[in-house]
Amino acid sequence: MTVTEENAPASHYDRIGGASSVKAAVELFYDKVLADPVSAAYFADVDMASQRRHLAMMLTVVLGGPNEYTGRGLAEAHQPLNIPVAHYVKVGEYLTVTLAELGVPADILADVQTVLGQVQGQVVSAGNRSGA
Ligand code: HEM
Repeated sequence: MTVTEENAPASHYDRIGGASSVKAAVELFYDKVLADPVSAAYFADVDMASQRRHLAMMLTVVLGGPNEYTGRGLAEAHQPLNIPVAHYVKVGEYLTVTLAELGVPADILADVQTVLGQVQGQVVSAGNRSGA
């Protein structure tokens, strides 16, 4: 069976309202990440435009939006940052809390949490996998 655009199920990305909703979520998420000195520190030497791009891509990826990403792979970009599990979990919480605050439905939140679990191994430093 061929899945056409007409009968393909809407992605979470589409259901929450696409790019403009992601943009709104980025603003809120960004505030939370930067208000926490622990997560803010990782972005100290990263320019503002990259930070926003980072957050928008992170959201689009976890919401199953269009994959137009041509940057480095998740592991390549994050392994040098030596991110421990605890910091990863915290940033993931900022993301899910942001989405909940924006009224994103529970089934989407649950899937976002699943994706966060799936990509954790690529983002968290290989030397830090067993804990914080
Ligand atoms: C689901 C989780 C995440 C996703 C999908 C994600 C996605 C990305 C992407 C696509 C990039 C750009 C790579 C490039 O430009 O080549 C990036 C860079 C970056 N990420 Fe993440 N990220 C995640 C979690 C995190 C966490 C938890 C932190 C910090 C605690 C973090 C900190 C950074 C930093 C500092 C950069 C810039 C690295 C550099 O410019 O060298 N990310 N991330």
